[in-house]
Amino acid sequence: MKTWAKMFLIVGALGLLVFLFPINRVSNHLQARGDASQKKPMAKNNSYVYSWPKCQQNMSAASISGFETVPQHIQDFLYYRHCRHFPMLLDLPDKCGGIDKSADIFLLLVIKSSPVNYERREVLRKTWAKERLHNGVWIRRIFISGTMDSGFEKKRLNKLLELEQREYNDILQWDFSDTLFNLTLKQVLFLEWMERNCPKARFLFNGDDDVFANTDNMVDYLQSLKDNDGSKHLFTGHVFQGTRPVRWTESKYYVPVQVQESNSYPPYCGGGGFLLSGHTALVIYNMSQSITIHPIDDVYMGMCLAKAGLSPVPHMGFRTLGLHIPSKKVDPHDPCYFKEFLLVHRFLPPDIYLMWHKIYDPDLKCGHNSHRS
Ligand SMILES: *[C@@H]1O[C@H](CO)[C@@H](O)[C@H](O)[C@H]1NC(C)=O
Ligand SMILES: *[C@@H]1O[C@H](CO)[C@@H](O)[C@H](O)[C@H]1NC(C)=O
Ligand SMILES: *[C@@H]1O[C@H](CO)[C@@H](O)[C@H](O)[C@H]1NC(C)=O
Repeated sequence: MKTWAKMFLIVGALGLLVFLFPINRVSNHLQARGDASQKKPMAKNNSYVYSWPKCQQNMSAASISGFETVPQHIQDFLYYRHCRHFPMLLDLPDKCGGIDKSADIFLLLVIKSSPVNYERREVLRKTWAKERLHNGVWIRRIFISGTMDSGFEKKRLNKLLELEQREYNDILQWDFSDTLFNLTLKQVLFLEWMERNCPKARFLFNGDDDVFANTDNMVDYLQSLKDNDGSKHLFTGHVFQGTRPVRWTESKYYVPVQVQESNSYPPYCGGGGFLLSGHTALVIYNMSQSITIHPIDDVYMGMCLAKAGLSPVPHMGFRTLGLHIPSKKVDPHDPCYFKEFLLVHRFLPPDIYLMWHKIYDPDLKCGHNSHRS
């Protein structure tokens, strides 16, 4: 055989080897066994999934005094409190159009939603969380989710979210269990995602999927802040001041001394929904890195604000405890009560759908100040 032909064969054989054992796969494998503190992006279905070593249960949590006396879900919390990184199952790396383009998003709706809440997501997509241009600025939507159950049931729900993602492109999902005491984790994971993918979004609405949020009013309010384009502090909603941990064991918000010893909470906004600037979101994320996770997510946001020397500001338009309807003779679903608010807590999907349409009814006539009683 001629020399050039041999060379050709050797080069071909090398090419085949690289094809069979891709370099990046070999290095990922080494990575997984090596430096645990490094994150390594891996391509998967056109999106990037950050892989971290699985977070280990902290066995010494069991030696905290009185550990065996606290309920199971709180023991669970204590065992996994230090875990802050979980693999992403659904990502939206291009949601904000890149770091610089993210400045074009005026209001990013970040809605906590568990996988089972399909109907709530569907109705929000058609109503207050619709992606749209309002008053010349963009409103965008993201649901944030974990996983539920295990085995077949977990797979089934993950598949549901995957199908929704294909149609709507509006879900971030991480592989952690979506429980009440993991909501803070969900928040922190979102903020980390935001810093990476959407750092210049002007304002964020952060809230639950069972509220009625008047997002048009939110945009109007935010546009009226003449000296803040999202680059200054803003954190507003229904402010709780001078509250303390619930020490009553039957409450779902029960926080024993094993979780928090101190008997007071900083001021915070009710987690049903609040507004914040992009600037404040990044400050909170920054502070969160050195604050131990607290299971109540809205309290934790307050802790981060306090550490940054910032406070939440009350806004009368947020009714996270529901509306006070003055008289039994008044229809509690009278749209005039809802037209002027920014948020009212606890709405069923059909009621959200109805209310969204009622407040835009051109024939709607509301008496002067009828909503302010
Ligand atoms: C594990 O729990 C113990 C007891 O609460 C705590 O002192 C320690 O810092 C925890 N370790 C980690 C890695 O969080
Ligand atoms: C939070 O999620 C992790 C990962 O799924 C889980 O191990 C832990 O038990 C969860 N914590 C709570 C309080 O549910
Ligand atoms: C984050 O915090 C560190 C100090 O902990 C500070 O040096 C840095 O400027 C902060 N960055 C932002 C964006 O707030």
